[in-house]
Amino acid sequence: MPLRAPPLLLHLVLLLLVPALADVPDRYSSPRTGASAGGGLGNSPAREYLDPTYPAPRPPPLAPSCVVPVLSYSFANTYGAPPATAAYAPPAGCPAPWSLVVLSFSVAIAGDQYDRVAAVWLDGAELLRTTTAEPTPDGVRWRVRKDVTRHSALLRSPTGGVLSVMLENLVNDQYTGVYNVSVSFEFHGAPSYLADAGFSAGAGAVDRKPATPTLPESYFQPADLILPVSEATGNSSGFWFRIQNSSDSRSKIVTIPSSTYRAVLEVFVSPHSNDEFWYSNPPDIYIRENNLTTGRGNAAYREVVVSVDRHFAGSFVPFPVIYTGGINPLFWQPVAALGAFDLPTYDVELTPFLGLLVDGKPHEIALSVVDGIAEWLVDANLHLWLDPASSSVSAALGSHSTPRLSITRRYITRLLDGSFEIGAKRKYRFSGWVKSSFGNFTTEVEAELKATSLVEFSDQGRNKTVRLQAEQDTEVTVRSSETRREVGKVETEAKFPLWLEMVTEDGENGTYVMRTNLTHSLSVETEAEAQGLFERETKLADEQVAVGWMLVRDHSVLNGSAATTQAYRYSDDAGRYERAIDTLDGAVLSDNVTESSRGLDVAASSACCRGRRCHGIVAAKCSDIAAM
Ligand SMILES: *[C@@H]1O[C@H](CO)[C@@H](O)[C@H](O)[C@H]1NC(C)=O
Ligand SMILES: *[C@@H]1O[C@H](CO)[C@@H](O)[C@H](O)[C@H]1NC(C)=O
Ligand SMILES: *[C@@H]1O[C@H](CO)[C@@H](O)[C@H](O)[C@H]1NC(C)=O
Ligand SMILES: *[C@@H]1O[C@H](CO)[C@@H](O)[C@H](O)[C@H]1NC(C)=O
Ligand SMILES: *[C@@H]1O[C@H](CO)[C@@H](O)[C@H](O)[C@H]1NC(C)=O
Ligand SMILES: *[C@@H]1O[C@H](CO)[C@@H](O)[C@H](O)[C@H]1NC(C)=O
Ligand SMILES: *[C@@H]1O[C@H](CO)[C@@H](O)[C@H](O)[C@H]1NC(C)=O
Ligand SMILES: *[C@@H]1O[C@H](CO)[C@@H](O)[C@H](O)[C@H]1NC(C)=O
Ligand SMILES: *[C@@H]1O[C@H](CO)[C@@H](O)[C@H](O)[C@H]1NC(C)=O
Ligand SMILES: *[C@@H]1O[C@H](CO)[C@@H](O)[C@H](O)[C@H]1NC(C)=O
Repeated sequence: MPLRAPPLLLHLVLLLLVPALADVPDRYSSPRTGASAGGGLGNSPAREYLDPTYPAPRPPPLAPSCVVPVLSYSFANTYGAPPATAAYAPPAGCPAPWSLVVLSFSVAIAGDQYDRVAAVWLDGAELLRTTTAEPTPDGVRWRVRKDVTRHSALLRSPTGGVLSVMLENLVNDQYTGVYNVSVSFEFHGAPSYLADAGFSAGAGAVDRKPATPTLPESYFQPADLILPVSEATGNSSGFWFRIQNSSDSRSKIVTIPSSTYRAVLEVFVSPHSNDEFWYSNPPDIYIRENNLTTGRGNAAYREVVVSVDRHFAGSFVPFPVIYTGGINPLFWQPVAALGAFDLPTYDVELTPFLGLLVDGKPHEIALSVVDGIAEWLVDANLHLWLDPASSSVSAALGSHSTPRLSITRRYITRLLDGSFEIGAKRKYRFSGWVKSSFGNFTTEVEAELKATSLVEFSDQGRNKTVRLQAEQDTEVTVRSSETRREVGKVETEAKFPLWLEMVTEDGENGTYVMRTNLTHSLSVETEAEAQGLFERETKLADEQVAVGWMLVRDHSVLNGSAATTQAYRYSDDAGRYERAIDTLDGAVLSDNVTESSRGLDVAASSACCRGRRCHGIVAAKCSDIAAM
């Protein structure tokens, strides 16, 4: 009898002890002993969790303001239940138009619980996609504040509005945590000095008739109408479409006003179950060759595609948001992973497609996920700007063809070791003209999307490396159809590299130890200009670096230690804001904020990212990723 077991046996033994590595990273529940699990460092754990981003913009001085509490609900055993609902009506004391509206989503929870996904809808149109933090026995709380000024058209809607919140939770003897959620809105009116400066909706450049028309100011203000592109049966199971596979395309039939002169689709998306960690999934061949039972396959490329009447209209690689139970839950105490509390949304400029849509007839807007597996929660809002002076526009889409996704795959497998490389690229250019009372404008959308992905297993599958680099450049140019002169342009460059290295070792008694290093960042740069109105540049760079280990049995973290550093940097013409946070074992070691302002007047500093004036065009609303 040889002393060493043959390799095959070794693998089988290994699979019994450590999880199938194709199943890693995974989601775990936080240690019962509280956030400060290990290291014996004696940091006192934070009870207030946070997501350091740009603070919600300050309302202009002297503006009237109102707070409207809408819903309070305890989400206990809500799995499979309809969303919680409450009646909504805009505040009588703060009538529209608003200079700023903030949605506040506050949560408190104690006990043991997994992270959960949640969403807030108003009359079926989504306002917030969020995921929850995992609690400690002592309890944690946090508050998400989101600027929803661009959703004014929904919030203005007369009485009869219904706000819905979905949060599917499971409570039993082990997982005891009940999520207490409250939702409110803060409305800030438009003070007269802004209203006088053409701030109120509809004030445009209609009466000016220069040789080359310019874009009206209303173009850069919140849309006049927002139509949900979401599940019709939402009041029973949530308004998100539940996309199950790559051929599963979900759609909504919409009829839009014939006076629409601009259209932008705002897409919400979150992957779950077998695709929660899509960026680290191996291809099916690796799973088959090793007789693994995991459903986490289809390799590591995903792209969300939008179509209008079966015409490809735009796409994006979703930013890989890590939920708070993901990879190593100790990383996310008390600072949540990038975007986990306010998932990025993606704007797809549909103005070139108005030629298909403005005939007063029903049309189909569809959403699908390239290579997606169950399940993706996806829906969208169609933002529409209407011509105040005419009941119909005329429009046409230029020549159209579906852009090719060029994808190369290099897979090498040797039993549990393997290297899986993917390179993906898609480039497209659409154009269409719209003639409204403002003039005849041609909108061109040009986009290039590039992604490279590497998933590598070594040391007989015990080590795993993940490297994702996704990049999307988008240019939206508006020209006078007659003179071809450029009247407006927005360029957006989004990049999000992710690097992850994990080593798994067998522990005692059915446990294992996982050591992980992670670097994750999001960078979005936007340049926007409109003739005679403004010129603006914004830059966002947000990065997290985390190092740590954890001792795990099944899905429970028994011990561990983790350090996370986050550097958030935002700048625009009005100033810069930086925040750097250092955490160790659930405690904040340092939290430094540096802020400088270029001292512009209030009206200018409330422009674009900070206020409402440029929301329409600067879709990269500070933290949002524009796929325009
Ligand atoms: C957790 O691990 C640390 C470091 O190895 C050790 O000192 C501590 O005793 C462990 N705690 C528990 C509860 O096992
Ligand atoms: C959640 O709400 C319930 C009912 O109001 C309350 O008993 C409980 O203490 C709350 N939990 C937390 C963590 O605040
Ligand atoms: C849910 O929506 C459908 C379709 O709009 C409607 O017929 C039904 O009455 C609603 N149910 C509830 C409980 O609101
Ligand atoms: C994809 O999902 C849809 C919806 O669940 C289902 O009807 C269809 O059979 C699935 N297709 C494949 C190839 O699995
Ligand atoms: C997978 O299962 C098949 C059939 O039982 C067997 O022949 C093969 O050796 C197994 N492969 C591995 C890597 O265990
Ligand atoms: C796996 O990771 C461990 C710890 O970082 C390292 O010592 C070892 O060399 C790695 N093995 C391979 C094959 O890369
Ligand atoms: C608008 O401009 C386009 C492009 O120059 C032209 O083809 C179209 O006829 C114009 N539309 C109207 C209604 O003038
Ligand atoms: C091993 O785990 C079992 C069940 O989880 C527990 O009862 C037992 O005490 C553990 N043994 C050791 C040596 O930790
Ligand atoms: C992870 O980071 C630690 C500390 O910076 C370093 O010592 C270790 O080598 C890194 N591990 C890997 C696998 O890169
Ligand atoms: C915050 O500032 C202090 C003092 O300058 C410094 O020691 C610390 O490293 C800074 N923290 C971060 C996360 O940059």
